[in-house]
Amino acid sequence: MTAYPKTSSLMARGAAFLGTEYAILCGAMSWVSERNLVAAISNAGGFGVIACGAMTPELLDAEITGTKALTQKPFGVNLITMHPGLFDLIAVCAKHGVSHVVLAGGIPPKGSVEAIKAFGAKVLVFAPTLALAKKLLRSGADALVIEGSEAGGHIGPVSTSVLAQEFLPSLAEDHIVFVAGGIGRGEAMAGYLEMGACGVQLGTRFACATESIAHPAFKKAFFRANARDAITSVQVDARLPVIPVRALKNKGTEEFTAKQVEVAKMLDAGEVDMMAAQLEIEHFWAGALRKAVIDGDVERGSVMAGQSVGMVTQEEPVAEIFAQLLAESEAALSRR
Ligand SMILES: Cc1cc2nc3c(=O)[nH]c(=O)nc-3n(C[C@H](O)[C@H](O)[C@H](O)COP(=O)(O)O)c2cc1C
Repeated sequence: MTAYPKTSSLMARGAAFLGTEYAILCGAMSWVSERNLVAAISNAGGFGVIACGAMTPELLDAEITGTKALTQKPFGVNLITMHPGLFDLIAVCAKHGVSHVVLAGGIPPKGSVEAIKAFGAKVLVFAPTLALAKKLLRSGADALVIEGSEAGGHIGPVSTSVLAQEFLPSLAEDHIVFVAGGIGRGEAMAGYLEMGACGVQLGTRFACATESIAHPAFKKAFFRANARDAITSVQVDARLPVIPVRALKNKGTEEFTAKQVEVAKMLDAGEVDMMAAQLEIEHFWAGALRKAVIDGDVERGSVMAGQSVGMVTQEEPVAEIFAQLLAESEAALSRR
């Protein structure tokens, strides 16, 4: 008998799909979502996801092995579709019999969904429009994450509340859909579950958990920040489409502007093509995020955070965060 019957009942399909007690995913966060946080989330009854980011196949191999040593529960691996070694990374997941792979950062390239399904794993994808979501689900994706612009990290232009209204009425009945972006409390979680979501994905709320290896200075920056401090990056050159990133405002925000000017000049000089230019930008983010998460340089690094950052006020164990979210959700549903 669960302590949260109403919430658990609304999450049943999502939990069965993930193989977990609760359909709460901790979205992959580059540098943050490594073995310790991932295992803590899965051990608490949720679904942890390793952020592969720019890792080499060897590093991913070691991270999966390390995570398996810390938890017997299911967890997933998030792969960035733009990664030049995507198929080698898929092979590493196959070697380990990873149960769920999340493809992020763009439309999955030809053959990638098939390659993942070939070793029996389930594939989760993101989709910016309803039409594309339907297409991906028709062509083999097993579940969808809709992520609104309130989220931390790379984001799309539309808010979670609008995406939920656009996607859930036509997809929720027949498909597994998780909602992400801006969820900081259980009441919001309950709302999306009632709209038909099978579960939710949170990042910002878990980034500073006790088990997270993020630098103390990174965590402190989160505890001090308000929603309005988590701003989106600005595109400076119309020819160079950069995916907006939501992070806490600091000097690094300005350095990103300078980086774009530099890459646009390389593009002008014919030194790089558009694909290479965009990779250059992504490498900037990976480096800047590392600087903040690992080195604790919260002035010049990128402190990626969602608008729910104002609800993150202290370091708490993952299990405690889960208990709060579930109790808030259950109380909200009981009041209905
Ligand atoms: C510090 C940070 C790093 C992130 N890195 C990634 C990533 O590497 N891949 C990815 O798919 N999403 C990434 N995200 C997005 C999260 O997986 C998640 O979807 C998002 O945080 C959910 O919204 P929320 O921040 O409002 O809870 C990142 C988010 C944060 C805050």
